[in-house]
Amino acid sequence: MSDTPRVTALKDGPLKVENVPNLTMSDGSAGEAKAAMFLCRCGHSANKPFCDGSHKREGWAE
Ligand code: FES
Repeated sequence: MSDTPRVTALKDGPLKVENVPNLTMSDGSAGEAKAAMFLCRCGHSANKPFCDGSHKREGWAE
């Protein structure tokens, strides 16, 4: 498995972000960078920037 950072747009879902060593939140604070994170791209998450599964409830597709 590669340690190269990678971003993958999941069908009808979030962006899967892997191997990112640092995460900076919009207020400038440090977030907890995990091996894999899922970032909302539908705009419906109540836990932005992270996906909370709301895209399924909203029927978001792209
Ligand atoms: S992509 Fe999952 S809540 Fe937006």
